[in-house]
Amino acid sequence: MKFRSTQMEFRTGLVFFLLLRLCFEASSDCSTSQTCDALGSYYVWEGNNLTFIGDMMSTTDVTIYNFNKAAMTNKDSVQWGTRVNVPFTCGCINGSFLGHEFQYDVVTGDTYDTVATKYYSNLTTVEAMAWFNSEYPANNIPNVNTQLKVVVNCSCGDSKVGNYGLFITYPLRDGDSLASIAEKENLSESLLQNYNPGVNFSRGTGYVYIPGKGVSFFVLFS
Ligand SMILES: *[C@@H]1O[C@H](CO)[C@@H](O)[C@H](O)[C@H]1NC(C)=O
Ligand SMILES: *[C@@H]1O[C@H](CO)[C@@H](O)[C@H](O)[C@H]1NC(C)=O
Ligand SMILES: *[C@@H]1O[C@H](CO)[C@@H](O)[C@H](O)[C@H]1NC(C)=O
Ligand SMILES: *[C@@H]1O[C@H](CO)[C@@H](O)[C@H](O)[C@H]1NC(C)=O
Ligand SMILES: *[C@@H]1O[C@H](CO)[C@@H](O)[C@H](O)[C@H]1NC(C)=O
Ligand SMILES: *[C@@H]1O[C@H](CO)[C@@H](O)[C@H](O)[C@H]1NC(C)=O
Repeated sequence: MKFRSTQMEFRTGLVFFLLLRLCFEASSDCSTSQTCDALGSYYVWEGNNLTFIGDMMSTTDVTIYNFNKAAMTNKDSVQWGTRVNVPFTCGCINGSFLGHEFQYDVVTGDTYDTVATKYYSNLTTVEAMAWFNSEYPANNIPNVNTQLKVVVNCSCGDSKVGNYGLFITYPLRDGDSLASIAEKENLSESLLQNYNPGVNFSRGTGYVYIPGKGVSFFVLFS
């Protein structure tokens, strides 16, 4: 008798635990009030400059320079083939995921591919461009007074993994690996992997979230 009731309690407990887990899993959807600072890792291509990057990312060359001073001599000296961190605000998109919606003014000849892989340096994807701009046919984007929605995903952290509150959305390129990114960012490989469970850092495509150092926005702007 005693044994049986213990078993029942155990089962009831298990059901509660599973329900609780379900609640937490479903809550991967964001709440509209959720917001945090974020950075986008922008790979600078040949012929590019901070003014252009600022125009794309709703900020200025000076602000971008302030975030990347340590690696640059002045705001006009950005080297192509390097990356710069660009600040933006991370918020809840449609109550379903964390991201930021940038606006891009169409120029004749633009395709979702050039916007995603060049102008936004793979911080978004062709698929996301087509999804968020479904009113325009991918092969015939009107070039007069058209603004495209460019959605870049971001993270505000995960209390189950650690206390970092600032994250870099980091598009992976050929040649990147868990070891190379860990070394460059001075973070442990296990910490990086824990924030990106199951992700192959060598896959050369997609993006990962990298915890930003203790650089606070307050310090940078003051
Ligand atoms: C900055 O880069 C953009 C895009 O490549 C280019 O159109 C523009 O001329 C560049 N500006 C300067 C001052 O080099
Ligand atoms: C948000 O959802 C509405 C309705 O489901 C949809 O029309 C709109 O395009 C969505 N916007 C974004 C940015 O996902
Ligand atoms: C974006 O990704 C595509 C496909 O992997 C690649 O060809 C392109 O060079 C990347 N763009 C940048 C700016 O890194
Ligand atoms: C951003 O996240 C949403 C939801 O997980 C996903 O559907 C979308 O493809 C992601 N966007 C990019 C650019 O990867
Ligand atoms: C790298 O991180 C360790 C531990 O967080 C710290 O002690 C060290 O000073 C850092 N090195 C650099 C070059 O930032
Ligand atoms: C990760 O991706 C790279 C490139 O696609 C591949 O060569 C490698 O085998 C993958 N590693 C694992 C553990 O799947």
